Amino acid sequence: MQTKLFDITKRADYTFKYNTKLGRHGWLRLTPAYSVKLVEEIIRSDCKKGDVILDPFSGTATTGLVASEMGFSSVSYEINPFLIWFGNIKCHNYSVNELDILQKQFNQCLEKIVMSDGFWVPPIHNIERWWHADTLMILASIRNRLVETFGEPNGNHYHNLVWVAFSRLIIETSSAAFNHVSMSFKDTTQYGFTQIKSLLQTIFSNIIHSAKTTLTGYAQVIHADSKALEIKEKECFDAVITSPPYPNRISYIRELRPYMYWVKFLKNGADAGALDWETIGGTWGIATSNLKNWTPTNKNLPAHLYDVCDKISRCEDKNAETMSKYVHKYFDNIYSHLLNMSVLLKPNAKVNYIVGNSSFYGHFVETQDIIAECMKQIGFTIIAINTIRRRNTKKGLLEYNIRAYFNI
Ligand SMILES: C[S@@+](CC[C@H](N)C(=O)[O-])C[C@H]1O[C@@H](n2cnc3c(N)ncnc32)[C@H](O)[C@@H]1O
Repeated sequence: MQTKLFDITKRADYTFKYNTKLGRHGWLRLTPAYSVKLVEEIIRSDCKKGDVILDPFSGTATTGLVASEMGFSSVSYEINPFLIWFGNIKCHNYSVNELDILQKQFNQCLEKIVMSDGFWVPPIHNIERWWHADTLMILASIRNRLVETFGEPNGNHYHNLVWVAFSRLIIETSSAAFNHVSMSFKDTTQYGFTQIKSLLQTIFSNIIHSAKTTLTGYAQVIHADSKALEIKEKECFDAVITSPPYPNRISYIRELRPYMYWVKFLKNGADAGALDWETIGGTWGIATSNLKNWTPTNKNLPAHLYDVCDKISRCEDKNAETMSKYVHKYFDNIYSHLLNMSVLLKPNAKVNYIVGNSSFYGHFVETQDIIAECMKQIGFTIIAINTIRRRNTKKGLLEYNIRAYFNI
């Protein structure tokens, strides 16, 4: 397999960090979001006018929004209801007049906040680790006022902009750090009401400002399980640009939980575990214990997958067997996904899969090679595996783009 190394530095411009100042792309951060710049480059090189683009792992809808900004139509699939909701708000075309009216309503609403410690707060385990008690009371009081004026998050895209701003607020005022698998907390900071209100006003004004940009294409995010797609129409897509989860035990639910609780997409920890079990690479709560009884769907996956799973399972650690199953299930799911999705592709559709390798007990799982091998078995021709960047200081963890086309 041809591997072209064009840059193995950390390249912050090829991560979510590049997106934070880019209007709609910066509304909410999700660490595994990929870079706008990367998607723009791929679209420029692989797509021609009129092409319809698919992203089967939408996340924060980076692909959909970039495609739409560049005048393309796209469909994105996502399994997490919060991300579907958020992606569709991000990719909507808004009327400038309506946005100006909304801004006025919002300002008026913030003038009449009643402070009380009796308002609803989300049932987050150990919530006092996330927010100082006083900060929590202020957030709950603001939330109550927003519900009175705009209702709970729903299908109204304009009102939902308010909830995006509130979601951003709860993260800005929280003490959680999302930089590694086991999340850490710094000491909770106590914010005053004026400080929090002014932060919310700034966040909201920025959102309104960027929502005024016109999108020349069209993007929608649909609820779908990309490993078990219901195929209604065949051969619809000219290109796939996506970044599936990596087999590294980072859970999206873990990072999204605070948003999901506050805007009522999650009611309890058990629901979070159940959803993570359905996501590829999910590892939250019950998702890990379920692995014990898991059996593969696909036979004859690439030989080096079985090799590495065998090496992991023989490591001297009480979780070695579970980790081996975790890796096996990840690729079993990816194989099902590729097989299912291929039916949706037009002949010669170009696909770009941004993936990362991982390491378990010192054994490297070379995701890019295993997925490329799965693709070949299904009928894709591999154009190249390009190394995009080094992921962190841990030696050997890289990000790749598997470029291929579907030629059946
Ligand atoms: C690496 S993230 C994608 C990030 C995205 N490119 C962005 O810029 O935000 C992978 C996404 O795949 C979603 N996902 C995982 N399993 C899925 C499945 N079976 N079907 C659909 N989406 C899934 C996760 O919820 C997550 O949002």
